Amino acid sequence: MDLDEGWLSRRIFHDQDIYEAEMRNIFARCWLFVAHETQIPNPGDFLTTYMGEDAVIVCRQKDLSIKVFVNSCPHRGNKVCYADAGNARRFVCNYHGWGFDTAGKLQGMHEEYCYDPGDIDKSKWGLKEVAKVDSYKGLVFATFDPAVPSLADYLGDYRWYLDCIVDNDEGGTELIGGCIKSIIPANWKFGVENFVGDAYHAGWTHDSGTRAMNDGNPFPPIDMVNSFHASANGHGHEFGLEGVGDIFLLGRPKVMEYYNSVLRPRMAKRLGERRSMIFGSVASASIFPNVSYLPGISTFRTWLPKGPMQLELRTWVIVNRNMPDEIKEEITTGVMQTFGPGGAFEMDDGENWENCTLSNRGVVTREEKLHYRCGIGRKLDHPEFPGTIYRGQYNDANQRGFYRRWQDLMNAGGAWSEVPDRNSNRLRGRETRDLPGGLLNL
Ligand code: FES
Ligand SMILES: [Fe+2]
Repeated sequence: MDLDEGWLSRRIFHDQDIYEAEMRNIFARCWLFVAHETQIPNPGDFLTTYMGEDAVIVCRQKDLSIKVFVNSCPHRGNKVCYADAGNARRFVCNYHGWGFDTAGKLQGMHEEYCYDPGDIDKSKWGLKEVAKVDSYKGLVFATFDPAVPSLADYLGDYRWYLDCIVDNDEGGTELIGGCIKSIIPANWKFGVENFVGDAYHAGWTHDSGTRAMNDGNPFPPIDMVNSFHASANGHGHEFGLEGVGDIFLLGRPKVMEYYNSVLRPRMAKRLGERRSMIFGSVASASIFPNVSYLPGISTFRTWLPKGPMQLELRTWVIVNRNMPDEIKEEITTGVMQTFGPGGAFEMDDGENWENCTLSNRGVVTREEKLHYRCGIGRKLDHPEFPGTIYRGQYNDANQRGFYRRWQDLMNAGGAWSEVPDRNSNRLRGRETRDLPGGLLNL
């Protein structure tokens, strides 16, 4: 791959060795989203999810801190919790009855007398805990790597954009209506790269859906002067400044009215006029490596890798906690009609990613390059927008930013000190360093 030239190898979407390296070099090292704080408000509240392919339990402790530990029994490896979420006093393994408290400590087991003195030191056989847990304005992240930079540094300048959705009004956000899971036979990166910057597909792929949702009206035109790609450390937000694109696509007039009369004025006070216009615009975003959201549409999602050619998509509706119930319901209905599993837009995307993944695998096809050069000359210094900025929403800039970070991590060999700074415009000159040969010099 050569991101300065603007092309990628197709191997990264199906190769098993590359996938294994992604699990080690990216998912076992980066900060990964595991929960929203409001999903587990009380002691004993838990949910289960995955960090890479490692199953984990995210659990609120008695002191209200949050612990994350591996959902795998140290006896034979069974999951100690099969449930998606709930409240527990302990987790007891189904297989031989080993029991763990909500901090993951081994408390005891079925027929404990079968162990002779010296067979087991219970204090050493708890559930493996992650290295660090931290949260950013309600979003809880965890990492297996004790050497990872702080979450604040990891998010870097991207926080300016992330605040558009997690800090646009008093009281913060919540995920409502439960989690929807679906399996898509596609590589996980196709979901992330689509949301990080692919405004280009929207007016074409989603043309019929847009017309069906909006009385025959087509996708709003993109103003290529007043729209941008912004990326920092592989995270990215692509946006316009027109204020109403995604809110219009949600197709709920009451939400549009609430946004125009209540939310946007408050947002302008809190985050500034500029970000109040970014929020509702045609926009999409991803947090590296595998979280995405649409600010004005309010879908929030994570792409869990399940092998190189399959992903599990988990989606939620994100709203401000202080919104009236009626508006929360309207938003939920709108999200289901657009980005629910049967939504007008969700189905269009999945079919495309499935076929991208499958066709890239052909033994002859895989040797061909993929084009990621759109807008490569449109980089600019913007006085107001943090991160690395490109003009024009129809652009591959954020996708290049995402894969640059991906490549940095895949090549850094385990040390964060070897991972280049990709946080902002401060970076000058060539956008990628020259990489040595080997598996990942694709
Ligand atoms: S595998 Fe969990 S108790 Fe045996
Ligand atoms: Fe799409």
